[in-house]
Amino acid sequence: MNETTIPDTDTISALIENQQRGWSLDQRFYTDPGIYALELERIITRNWILAGHVSQLPETGDFKVLKVANESAIIVRSQDGSIKAFANVCRHRGSLVCLEGEGNTRKFECPYHGWIYDTDGHLIAARSMPDDFDKKAYALHKVSVEVLHGLLFICFSESPPSLAGARKDLAEPMAMFDFEHLKVAAQKNYQIDANWKLAVENYQECYHCATAHPEYAVRHTLMLDPKKRPRVQVRMLEKMQACGLKEINIDHIDTQARPGEQGYGYSRTALFEGCQTGSEDGQSLAPLLGKLTDYDGGASDFTLGPFSFLLAYSDHVVGYVFTPIDKDRCQCEIYWFVRSDAVEGRDYNVDRLTWLWDVTTQADKEIIINNWKGVQSKYYQPGPFSAMERAESLYIEWILQALRREA
Ligand code: FES
Ligand SMILES: [Fe+2]
Repeated sequence: MNETTIPDTDTISALIENQQRGWSLDQRFYTDPGIYALELERIITRNWILAGHVSQLPETGDFKVLKVANESAIIVRSQDGSIKAFANVCRHRGSLVCLEGEGNTRKFECPYHGWIYDTDGHLIAARSMPDDFDKKAYALHKVSVEVLHGLLFICFSESPPSLAGARKDLAEPMAMFDFEHLKVAAQKNYQIDANWKLAVENYQECYHCATAHPEYAVRHTLMLDPKKRPRVQVRMLEKMQACGLKEINIDHIDTQARPGEQGYGYSRTALFEGCQTGSEDGQSLAPLLGKLTDYDGGASDFTLGPFSFLLAYSDHVVGYVFTPIDKDRCQCEIYWFVRSDAVEGRDYNVDRLTWLWDVTTQADKEIIINNWKGVQSKYYQPGPFSAMERAESLYIEWILQALRREA
């Protein structure tokens, strides 16, 4: 039951069809190289991934690099002012072109043999090549990039899913927190030695919050059983409107999205009494976002696609992106956003701002690794989900759907 040989297509299809609904995945979905290869092709490179915020690239030539599994993208503010993205793979013999994570440049010079590309990805110099060598034919490959209310998204597919629905339906909730005018106050990468799905699954459920996250559990009512939540929601709902927030619920995640469309969702959940935001003392962390006039005592969850999640408090937004490094390792990139005119030291303190989600993510990292260790054991077998793991269960259904889909 626990071999990690590459299954043939029929075996993978049978595994997908035999997966019991409402139960955790068969071991081979986590351990099999063949299934991971299929995930790369049908999930990882076919969906949009949060890559930061336009405010990180304000000047011409500003760039950042995003690495996901085998892929690496250079995202750059080009000469015409637009944001462009390219595969970070030299057209000569394939070296990574840009080895820095971010910076400002007028050109990208491949470190191997010195081919040079401009910020539009055009090859502009290639030493000692024949006179008739056509540089125009060797531009860096384009990577799909979109700016959605200030957020940068990239997709390693020439025909990515449509973001039109997300752009339209998330416009109002994103405008409430003025996503267009946020800035990154802090960013941290957490490397986790576990299959990437375990990290996303863990983010999707709060069944573990009571046991693993004492800091989170006394602040967020999302850790309560859904049956107990409506009572605590009432207080927040009463305050919301007066603070400048509308009650909006969008449940159009990937499981419900039409083929060719990227799924998305939005909802707001109360914090426990006495918490204005996700801080150690419950008190404010930064200036109120957008046009908010006061704290309603809530936090909003945004979902966009299978890897990217945002949590909007009244005074800051935390972005989480879970992506694989390889089959057995993944990363969680966390962005802490505040309003663009907030000044560090005066309006916010990075240690205070990052405290809750740093301590929570460190704890998550540990439980995900322990989960991974157990999942690889010969004694592992799928177990039944609780009512508090509904989102995780839906996520798994979507994974199976996506794996089933033909190329
Ligand atoms: S691989 Fe880039 S110049 Fe040779
Ligand atoms: Fe957690």
